[in-house]
Amino acid sequence: MRPVGHGRTSAIGVFDSGVGGLTVLKALMERLPLESTVYLGDTARVPYGTKSGEVVTRYSIANAEALLEYEIKALVVACNTASAVALPALEAKLPIPVVGVIIPGAQAAAAATKNGKVAVIGTPGTIASGAYQSALQATNPQLEVHTRACPLFVPLAEEGWIDGAVPQLVAEKYLGDGLLDGGVDTLVLGCTHYPLLAPIIQKVVGNSVTLVDSAKATAERVATVLRERELTRLERGTVERHYLVTDTPNRFLEVGARFLGRPLSGARQIDLHVR
Ligand code: DGL
Repeated sequence: MRPVGHGRTSAIGVFDSGVGGLTVLKALMERLPLESTVYLGDTARVPYGTKSGEVVTRYSIANAEALLEYEIKALVVACNTASAVALPALEAKLPIPVVGVIIPGAQAAAAATKNGKVAVIGTPGTIASGAYQSALQATNPQLEVHTRACPLFVPLAEEGWIDGAVPQLVAEKYLGDGLLDGGVDTLVLGCTHYPLLAPIIQKVVGNSVTLVDSAKATAERVATVLRERELTRLERGTVERHYLVTDTPNRFLEVGARFLGRPLSGARQIDLHVR
């Protein structure tokens, strides 16, 4: 393995189970436009949200090791499920700062709620891990936290079924069924895919509920970490965008363009060394 780069001009590494993390990459590109990025989508092993924590941790370490080959200066774990279950293992193993999406999302929700009643939606793995619950209560022990796994939102977002009758029915089933009873005023979109469904989710929960998108909060956290570690790129230069995938790139490029909000090209297929 080549030495790990710590320079200000090194890229930020980002990984996710597949295309979903491109919503986090999009927020990073908006917040830190001078920074180069290397994005890895583990499209051969997606989804992570229904797998055990032990397996997701092994995949996450393999993703991180593949990104270290690119001499990244910081790692962003864009996948909520991986952030929920694998962050301590990644932090222990890597010689660079590691930022997950859970703590920034929880802090943004704690700051947004007025009545202290927060709901979190995510994959079964994220919800079962209790990571959002812990992060919210670590921020403010008085918070009342409600959670629900919403697995069908992931394929809906990937299919592009983000408005109309089908996603509306699914959203009503997941969110109308007691989750918000008792006056929850803040809802955390605790999965990479859910920002695409934000308009329909907002319609179902009503305008009195504030939606919190972890992606934006994470990009802000990355900016702070880079500044604190003196790793922020200071001068304009060529901004490189690399995309790596573990399955053939076609579907990633097609679906990913919708998640990133711009055309995608040049994804390269790699093998991971999962132990
Ligand atoms: N990226 C995952 C997450 O944010 C959603 C897709 C999956 O289950 O792998 O939890």
